Amino acid sequence: MDFDLSGKVAAVTGATSGIGAATAEILAGAGASVALGGRRADRLDEVASRISGAGGRALAIPTDVTQEPQARAFVDAARSELGGLDILVNNAGVMLLGPVQDADVEEWRRMIEVNLLGLLYCTHAALPIMREAGGGDVVNVSSTAGRQATLGSAVYNLTKWGVNGFTEGLRQEALHIGVRVSVVEPGMVSTELLSHNRNPVVLNAAEKFRERVGTPLEPADIARAILYVVGQPPHVAVNEVLVRPSRQQR
Ligand SMILES: NC(=O)c1ccc[n+]([C@@H]2O[C@H](COP(=O)([O-])OP(=O)(O)OC[C@H]3O[C@@H](n4cnc5c(N)ncnc54)[C@H](OP(=O)(O)O)[C@@H]3O)[C@@H](O)[C@H]2O)c1
Repeated sequence: MDFDLSGKVAAVTGATSGIGAATAEILAGAGASVALGGRRADRLDEVASRISGAGGRALAIPTDVTQEPQARAFVDAARSELGGLDILVNNAGVMLLGPVQDADVEEWRRMIEVNLLGLLYCTHAALPIMREAGGGDVVNVSSTAGRQATLGSAVYNLTKWGVNGFTEGLRQEALHIGVRVSVVEPGMVSTELLSHNRNPVVLNAAEKFRERVGTPLEPADIARAILYVVGQPPHVAVNEVLVRPSRQQR
């Protein structure tokens, strides 16, 4: 199935690696101009170069989504530099696993600030732009962890449960201004997400999980699901997409 996003502008958070980078590339490949947000400026430039090398249009905007003014500036720059804002993909996220007891609460703060507040700041900045334009798409990247809680993942579960709840509440509100709000829930994807964890018990459990899953998803598998969501005609809203590796049980 071919999707044509020519003339559209997309903003993707967490576009320096993994699912966000793949999503930016696939949306640009379908014709959208893409604003890339994330903290690592060198990695943003690499993704932007790959997109422009393939004939697409990309704008790298170094952004820490936990800083409200930066999140707002990211969305505003997408609109002013690329000429509008049709699609916001709230993808930036961190997953710091481990038991609740004796946890480093700074890790909780980071997850809540990136996975929840960053998503809220970008969405808050985007909605008036989309309302004025008569519509748009907000796609929130959640996780199977937003549907299935697991030992050692309680606070990550909390954040992704929050993303799912917020998405449904906003969906009901924003349909009145022509904005479609969707959640995409990946199972295990081969990315850098786990690399910020140092706890050997967590790393060991993750390795065992990976062995059971067999072949994880690739970032492009999720990027294609996001393209499917935003590529629908205006009367179709794909509200929720759950994508697991074929052998992932939960
Ligand atoms: N991999 C999986 O198995 C899996 C499964 C389900 C859901 N997910 C979700 O998918 C999303 C993308 O993760 P990924 O798997 O692609 O991992 P990843 O490669 O580690 O990507 C995470 C992205 O989030 C960005 N980010 C982190 N903190 C940020 C901040 N303060 N401001 C702006 N950007 C920030 C990172 O960019 P910088 O570090 O450069 O800022 C990076 O681009 C996350 O929401 C994650 O929870 C992943």
